[in-house]
Amino acid sequence: MKSLLIVYHSQSGTSALLARSAWRGAQLEAGIEVSLLRAWDAGTLDLARAGGLLLVMAENSGALCGTIKDFLDRTFYPAIARGLVLPYALLISAGNDGRGAQRQAERILSGYPFLPAAQPVILRGALCAAHQEASTELGQAFAAGLSMGIF
Ligand SMILES: Cc1cc2nc3c(=O)[nH]c(=O)nc-3n(C[C@H](O)[C@H](O)[C@H](O)COP(=O)(O)O)c2cc1C
Repeated sequence: MKSLLIVYHSQSGTSALLARSAWRGAQLEAGIEVSLLRAWDAGTLDLARAGGLLLVMAENSGALCGTIKDFLDRTFYPAIARGLVLPYALLISAGNDGRGAQRQAERILSGYPFLPAAQPVILRGALCAAHQEASTELGQAFAAGLSMGIF
């Protein structure tokens, strides 16, 4: 069965709620196994089992939040050694920007090399229903693409 791995980190709970919404959206697609893991619980074996990766994170100080950076640092060489090439998508929670986290994530992920499966989604400001809806849509669209073999 194809599988989507959602890896997230959240300090205040905002990104966690977005990740859960994406997880719910992905669950709407039949035939896709969806895993939701905190970044500090996720590693190379989880990537090796996955057919796609959705990263959910905040922008902190103009960059990726540290725990997602740590996940990427830990898995970079092991993923290359295994020849893993996955489609990925980014869901970024930000106060008023998010582009620094996007740029940094895209740059790092291009080195794996992982391939973008969707436009990055940046959600700015306080959590609201529209943010949760956008997260659900991204999760469902990514899972649908995996299910149809588009990526
Ligand atoms: C230490 C810190 C640094 C932040 N830096 C940025 C930033 O550079 N750009 C931005 O748009 N938002 C920034 N924010 C706001 C967060 O990205 C935003 O509140 C996000 O929703 C936090 O999600 P989380 O609490 O689930 O991790 C920062 C927040 C914190 C706590």
